[in-house]
Amino acid sequence: MTLAEKIGQMNQVNASDDDMTDQVRQAIGAGRVGSVLNQVDVDSVNELQRIAVEESRLGIPLLVGRDVIHGFRTVMPIPLGQAATWNPDIVREGAQVAAREAATAGINWAFAPMIDISRDPRWGRIAESPGEDPHLASVLAAALVEGYQGEDLAERGTIAACAKHFAGYGASESGRDYSTTNIPENELRNVYLRPFKAAVDAGVVSLMASFSDLDGVPATANQFLMRKVLREEWGFRGFVVSDWDSVRQLGIHGLTENDRESVFQAVTAGVDMEMAGESYVNNLEELIDDGRIDTAMIDTMVSNILRAKIRLGLFENPYTDPAALPAIANDEALETARKAALQSVVLLKNEHRALPLSANKLESVAVIGPLADAPYEQLGTWIFDGDSELSVTPLQSIRDLVGDDIDIRYVRAMPNSRSRTTESFAEAVEIATDSDAAILFLGEESILSGEAHSRADINLPGAQAELVRRIRKTGKPVIAVIMAGRPLTLTNILDEVDAILFAWHPGTMGGPAIADLLFGVESPSGKLPVTFPRMVGQIPIYYSQKNTGKPPSPDTVVLIDDIDARAPQLSTGMTAYHLDAGYTPLFAFGHGLSYAEFDYENIRSSAQEIGMGDTVTIGAELINNGVVAADEVVQLYVRDLVGSVTRPVRELKGFKRVRLEPGERVTVDFELHTDDLAFFGRNMQLATEAGDFHAWIGGSSETGLRTEFRIIDGD
Ligand code: BGC
Repeated sequence: MTLAEKIGQMNQVNASDDDMTDQVRQAIGAGRVGSVLNQVDVDSVNELQRIAVEESRLGIPLLVGRDVIHGFRTVMPIPLGQAATWNPDIVREGAQVAAREAATAGINWAFAPMIDISRDPRWGRIAESPGEDPHLASVLAAALVEGYQGEDLAERGTIAACAKHFAGYGASESGRDYSTTNIPENELRNVYLRPFKAAVDAGVVSLMASFSDLDGVPATANQFLMRKVLREEWGFRGFVVSDWDSVRQLGIHGLTENDRESVFQAVTAGVDMEMAGESYVNNLEELIDDGRIDTAMIDTMVSNILRAKIRLGLFENPYTDPAALPAIANDEALETARKAALQSVVLLKNEHRALPLSANKLESVAVIGPLADAPYEQLGTWIFDGDSELSVTPLQSIRDLVGDDIDIRYVRAMPNSRSRTTESFAEAVEIATDSDAAILFLGEESILSGEAHSRADINLPGAQAELVRRIRKTGKPVIAVIMAGRPLTLTNILDEVDAILFAWHPGTMGGPAIADLLFGVESPSGKLPVTFPRMVGQIPIYYSQKNTGKPPSPDTVVLIDDIDARAPQLSTGMTAYHLDAGYTPLFAFGHGLSYAEFDYENIRSSAQEIGMGDTVTIGAELINNGVVAADEVVQLYVRDLVGSVTRPVRELKGFKRVRLEPGERVTVDFELHTDDLAFFGRNMQLATEAGDFHAWIGGSSETGLRTEFRIIDGD
């Protein structure tokens, strides 16, 4: 390969319809392009491959990339919603469907999974993330990689995955997208890097460097991340792509004076391929000629890219025949989307068993709100190729489900979720007054979350809270179904509704899933993958916080209204809480109610003491004391009481989704190896430290059922 051909492999260009110019074709023919993105017309993709294979001197086929984030045509729930299923099997299946559908367009590389831990619901990209917890995120990261890539990437219908954004992007200050991140190495390793390690262990083909600046060194120029951690420590053999134009942005960050220096920094840090920007093709040759970058380094980087093309079988099969793949949006795909949506919905509140609605007791139901019949909005962010004509909305599905048995009356009430107009509220109140119950479809439309769509106020936008208050006054049962790309602060409507189903953006089949849940055909089983704050000022709030030297407790918390006027200083608790918010969230990580009644009993540890390298089994009994069969996500949490660095008050260490019939009792066991308790301590080495541990099993991170064990060091 000539140097120009090598640099060509490191160059990814935009080939969307508007950008598919003769220039792009010529560059491919000249061997100056290794990958394209954003072309999804299969004939055009095949044509580009033909140019690469037949017209370029070496005939190297192209990587064809696309943001296939939570589905292609058939759209699964947003990734945060998928995380709420706590079900790696359904998440894997969703990625398989997405890969198969994308492959029909000639796509062979998805810019997914996005596995940025996020503890800030203001950040718009939390919608794309697996939430706040490194264990849950790691399990799902592996499942997603397996789903996209299958067992053999050369097989039809599997595509390369790209774990992004490496790393720390989810910690953007104040949740403002693209903002600075400052993460101490210890926290970076114990929290943010873990899902990436899981993706690498699962064989992910590529990683994408983040836009963000990590402790003063933008990820795109970060040698610590890409050389030390990724290559040296993890032995990653795939390739790293920049984010969109992020190489040139190193200059905008103020790290470099010009594009050439940006290229120098990105290449030496280990960004193998540049996405858009073209600064590699314009500057790399000179940097090599000047002796500043060694050709051996370029050879390694090009090999990283070529290995991916070999793994994908592209040299044998560069072209796509869509007819050889299953049909788009076939029954199986839609069923996967329905199941994923069903398991993603979280029942946050259910006062007096307001849900499920009983079809034989109701004559009429009012369906109200901007998201009841919004086929596009229910798909959520990042749906470049999603087909909103396939969407089945809740309004449609409720009508289909109840048929003529219940009179369904519908008023949209607001043109969109942001609207402040209350003009149609009277009409909504009228239908609610005349009905036996009201279902309000509230939340955020898709434009309010996703990349560059952060919010500082995460209440229900527009006049929605006012709509809730007015409907409440009718005295009818009020059920809120909330679709959103993030946790919302629901404090101001919590007491105004009887039940809340939190549905995220549920995707193509959101309607049938929600209708089944509302009317009790199925029981809700989603659990929160992220903490819901009471108010925005509590952020960051997450369950695995540190204890602090002054931990709050119900006894020490005195809220602002209860401060004793006679001795104000003495009356407050001097512990770690907010005077106006306390210290607890509105809804905890792992929370999610059911129509069944699950009780946990008899937690036990198989041993009081284990040696380093041994396994302990923590188990508990789970009983369904309710009258319906349902899934429950059983969760195991652990606390390492003393460490060389302070340890979280609880950490998720295992979870299992189990289905129980009414009256059924099962024992759920979790095996914990001492390696599962390892963390990066003061010396930045991964190790398990001997000592005392607490373990809890239950249905949320707040469970109180606890046992103990001790790890003793051999010597
Ligand atoms: C996003 C990436 C995405 C890329 C390509 C960027 O703006 O940060 O997540 O893969 O665009 O569309």
